[in-house]
Amino acid sequence: MTTNFSDSRGPRNAVSGFLRWLADRLHVSAGAATIPEFDQRLASKVSRTKPDATLAEIIQRAWTVGQTIDLSDVGYGPPHWKAEGKLHETPFPYYFFLAGLVRSQNCKRIFEIGTHYGGSTYSMLRGGVSQSEMKIVTVDITDLNPNLHKIQAITKIIGDANGEAVLKSAVLALSDAPIDLLYVDAAHEFLPTITNLGLYILLLRPRFVVIDDIVLNEGMRSLWNTIRVTQGSRAVNCLDVIQDIRTPNVGFGLLRLQ
Ligand SMILES: C[S@@+](CC[C@H](N)C(=O)[O-])C[C@H]1O[C@@H](n2cnc3c(N)ncnc32)[C@H](O)[C@@H]1O
Repeated sequence: MTTNFSDSRGPRNAVSGFLRWLADRLHVSAGAATIPEFDQRLASKVSRTKPDATLAEIIQRAWTVGQTIDLSDVGYGPPHWKAEGKLHETPFPYYFFLAGLVRSQNCKRIFEIGTHYGGSTYSMLRGGVSQSEMKIVTVDITDLNPNLHKIQAITKIIGDANGEAVLKSAVLALSDAPIDLLYVDAAHEFLPTITNLGLYILLLRPRFVVIDDIVLNEGMRSLWNTIRVTQGSRAVNCLDVIQDIRTPNVGFGLLRLQ
């Protein structure tokens, strides 16, 4: 807002007051004006090459193995999109992919951001080769499913994943060795998601990172483009390999870091 220093009445001040009002409405901050330009430039730098062959193989294998894992009792729980009220009691296709990735890549140590009701958490646990060796730490600002707290392999943290308390709890729970998988499915906006990635890739050193909803909205598309520009063929939208994993308007990203 433009500061109004005039405190006296009169036609001159009325005109300058009107001009200030107009200026406030026309003003666009330089920062906001340049972000779409950055996005365009980032999008133009993304390489359009085919998915890396090894990563494509990993995705294919995870999907195939996932189909052999029984998730019939794993549901999403209460939906939080639209005004839809019904519980989702059957598994979404990406649950099989997550379970298959955990099984085929022998993932044991997992950090999840965005537990919701625990559908993805249960799926990843079910994928574990040896249940007694599994350690899944999952965080959400909500605590919808009390049953998660009863499972030994799962540690549920309640709070903002980008907040200091959660960050320190996660480090205490998982810092003894690099983790196998970081699964990010939370705020679905550019800044909170890139902050999630920056913090937890630095601190937990994951082998794989999976990010849901990479093309859900402008912010997430921008996030995914930014990642692709820096990570190149190590970042793949799994739908470019197996279309059935997720709907095309949301996407499902896989990043292999080691
Ligand atoms: C799409 S849901 C997760 C769904 C779950 N991963 C699944 O597939 O079954 C997103 C969740 O992220 C949580 N969330 C959003 N922002 C968060 C934040 N800053 N820290 C922790 N959790 C957050 C929401 O409360 C919500 O439960």
